[in-house]
Amino acid sequence: MTTLEFTTDRVEPMPAEQREELLSMPGFGSLYSDHMVTARWDAAHGWHDARSRPLAEFSLHPATMAFHYGQTVFEGLKAFWRPDGQRALFRPEDHARRFARSARRMAMPELPEADFVAAVEALLRVDGAWVPRTRGHSFYVRPFMLAAETHLSNRPAEEYLFAVIGSPARPAAGAEPKPIRLWASPEYVRAADGGTGTIKCGGNYGGSYVAQREAVAHGCDQVVWLDARERRYVEEVGGSNLFFVEGDRLVTPPLSGTLLAGITRDSILRLAGRLGIEVAEEPVALDDWERGCRDGRITEVFACGTARAIAPVGHVVTPDRDWPTGPAGPVTRRLLKALLDIQYGETPDEFGWLR
Ligand code: COI
Repeated sequence: MTTLEFTTDRVEPMPAEQREELLSMPGFGSLYSDHMVTARWDAAHGWHDARSRPLAEFSLHPATMAFHYGQTVFEGLKAFWRPDGQRALFRPEDHARRFARSARRMAMPELPEADFVAAVEALLRVDGAWVPRTRGHSFYVRPFMLAAETHLSNRPAEEYLFAVIGSPARPAAGAEPKPIRLWASPEYVRAADGGTGTIKCGGNYGGSYVAQREAVAHGCDQVVWLDARERRYVEEVGGSNLFFVEGDRLVTPPLSGTLLAGITRDSILRLAGRLGIEVAEEPVALDDWERGCRDGRITEVFACGTARAIAPVGHVVTPDRDWPTGPAGPVTRRLLKALLDIQYGETPDEFGWLR
């Protein structure tokens, strides 16, 4: 049951022609729909002041705690256009649950799952026209929360702001995504036991950019993160999970306490099972990855996440060696098709993932 009631203040929407022209240009993250949804929390009122309103800047005091101590969490989920003319959200309850987990870990108030879903639906109600109609395109929804209290004390804030904005995701037209090159950083780690690796807080991403720059300096697209203890086992790629096709099996690193439990990761595990592919959640050592590629045991590797869906991995680079890790192969393609067919309503939603 939802506890929040959203008031609505509509802006004159962008003219359809102008919107359609923007939607026809490729891009991610720099185009926003007309509205946003916001709500506030404080100890006296709990969650309150829920509004669907025109997208606009926030006015925040320079001593707003989020600027200083990093209490920020976010989610990313997608809405898809369906052949029946409806728009559908992919697994919003799972994103709501993870958002609440992230908030708990960051000593922030939990937004009830039903309110999270209601907030995302409220945005879609006013900005549904921004959901692109092309297969492969989608409406990326970004719910987030930040410590909004004005104070310089080093403690959890006592006031929070929750908001949802939306941004149409329009990958460049073309055949298959280009396989990505990965840099195995010997120096930096993303997460350690007991840290924040399992959640979506801003610091996990901000803390990764120095290694991302190093990856680019080595001719790579992204970092493949190794475990903090031994720098031996692979964990994630950039902000995505990783899968290996090894013989007849699909293998992915287990949720050891330092990895983000990706909703696309979970979808792929379930889809693979449904397609009769044996799945295993097992540690994968970087050395075994290299050996597996060289002796032909590992035939395909791909990264997955909400934003990118599935991206093939083509090459791994370390300070002293590098190896090709296969182009996009049949298993990667089959899983991507199975995922997209459900998201775009071209096959029955047998898992009940769409809302
Ligand atoms: C995702 O794909 O799940 C993301 O969170 C991507 C985002 C950091 C751009």
